[in-house]
Amino acid sequence: MNPTELLRVAVLVSGGGTNLQAMLDRGRAGKLKAEIVAVVSDNPEAFGLTRARQAGVPCHTVRYGVVETGGPTTDPLPGDLDWAAFLRRRRTPTSGDSVKVPEQIVRLRRMVRAEREIIRKLAPYRPDYVCLAGYMRLLSPYFLDHFNRDGGYRVVNIHPALLPAFPGQHGYRDTFDHGCKWGGVTVHYVDEGEDSGPVIAQAVYPIWPEDDPDAVRRRGLALEYEVYSQVLNWLAAGQVAINRPAGARPRVVITDPAYRRIVTRWLDLAMTG
Ligand code: GAR
Repeated sequence: MNPTELLRVAVLVSGGGTNLQAMLDRGRAGKLKAEIVAVVSDNPEAFGLTRARQAGVPCHTVRYGVVETGGPTTDPLPGDLDWAAFLRRRRTPTSGDSVKVPEQIVRLRRMVRAEREIIRKLAPYRPDYVCLAGYMRLLSPYFLDHFNRDGGYRVVNIHPALLPAFPGQHGYRDTFDHGCKWGGVTVHYVDEGEDSGPVIAQAVYPIWPEDDPDAVRRRGLALEYEVYSQVLNWLAAGQVAINRPAGARPRVVITDPAYRRIVTRWLDLAMTG
């Protein structure tokens, strides 16, 4: 895309949506090189939807349970999906071994049915990127293949821990419970695993002896807002390069000449926050 254009970003939320709010606020202040073109939630009660409505951003709900069990969207899935290959791609060291393959495929088919709804709802907005902001579901290879075109990653997530430490749903709590002296936040591309895609940006914050889990979460969230918006600005400016060494994991390099200054600012913010 033209580096001067705004990125078209769709945001997926499951809950409060404070990351979404931070993007909307920065957008309004002219500090975000991205336009939030649509918001989708798997949870009709998500406050993130209210935030989107208040900002005049189109929003949609896809209720996985309803889509999975019937209703108006039970038309057949594409017949040429290779479910066995999808399962192999999704397999992580902790996933699914206790569940029989046919049952895993049933689950995957349900997931794909809901994801197809999301894809359909997002299509008119033509998003350049799909950003997960507190979206508490894994995405299947079907969804990722749809957006990750031309060999590039198009789905981005924010995670409340310094990956690869503490993947999963409780990044702040796990960081605190382990007695970590530093916590972190990570923005990464999404692949088939759980919080396992290439890291784009990370920031760290201290955990002081007197801190409780709420203090840790508060300090981390303040950083999340900074880092996520900065990553969108880097993506818009074409400053996120991916090195693909043969036989090794893809590795992201930020090419912004101001990179060190920005990371130092995040550190200052964390030390004083
Ligand atoms: C954020 O802390 C985000 O990093 C986390 O959920 C929170 C959502 O807050 N995401 C995950 O844990 C994903 N595994 P928000 O709805 O207020 O932006």
